[in-house]
Amino acid sequence: MTAYVADPVYLNGRFLPLAEAGISPLDRGFLYGDGVYEVIPVYSRRAFRIDEHLQRLQATLDGIQMANPLSAEAWQAVVLKLIETAPWDDQSIYLQVTRGADDKRDHAFPPASVPPTAFAFSSPLVTTPAAVRAKGVAAITVPDLRWSRCDLKVVSLLANVLARQQAVAQGCAEALLIRDGLMKEGAASNIFIVKDGVLIAPPKTHLMLPGITYDVILELATAHQQPLAVREITETELRAADEVWMTSSTKEILAITTLDGNPIGNGRPGPYGEQMWQWYQDFKNTVMRKG
Ligand code: PDD
Repeated sequence: MTAYVADPVYLNGRFLPLAEAGISPLDRGFLYGDGVYEVIPVYSRRAFRIDEHLQRLQATLDGIQMANPLSAEAWQAVVLKLIETAPWDDQSIYLQVTRGADDKRDHAFPPASVPPTAFAFSSPLVTTPAAVRAKGVAAITVPDLRWSRCDLKVVSLLANVLARQQAVAQGCAEALLIRDGLMKEGAASNIFIVKDGVLIAPPKTHLMLPGITYDVILELATAHQQPLAVREITETELRAADEVWMTSSTKEILAITTLDGNPIGNGRPGPYGEQMWQWYQDFKNTVMRKG
């Protein structure tokens, strides 16, 4: 076990220590990035929206024509066992499936006899410290260099990796991806803006990952009668927004307060983001932690 990965991990039907979990260097996840993944937050040892995460995993597998090695019930059992044996109450469960390892290298799919590789582990879920939240974080914009199936949660993440690294190299927390003048999402998060009291969310298209947290935010906005528009956000609107937030299973809701070195709004986290964060915390504590 490391400070980050709990033992045991799950690999191809077995639970074993991370140090003993090995896969072939011919695995197509390694050779081609030919695989899919999920990240599921766990609160008080309860997996949050596991059905939705497993449905998104299935949708991604369908999208890349890969059979799911486990039924939804079998995945649930794997996740449950990882949660039970990990030392933390709040966790982040990572699932990955690749198209397995053939005995040769060929871009086209391997024969059906080649089994997929299924891997899963638990890490501690570390939420953003209050001091960081109080200040908000800095972000940059970069051109969206990804392919055109960004709705699939695949492990081929090189464009996301390079975008995020560009942000980190400039002391920023996230890179916002601009395609054809529109802001689609972050390198590893969905992005919302607020303008004149209206929460604006980009629509789910093949150019954005359908975030599970994104859905929770739309639900909370609707439940609390927060004015909401689901529509494309131009780069110009992004820069002129009163508030910009990033959201993900691990980051929850985090205000972006500077963009490319310029303040968003007054340069401080705004009231709408604070309110949504509070609704999210209430929801987490009353619903997510109680199952
Ligand atoms: N990333 N968009 C992208 C490109 C992402 O990678 C993620 C999450 C999201 C938010 O999705 P969700 O709300 O379901 O976490 C949006 C995960 C956390 C990751 O890659 O680690």
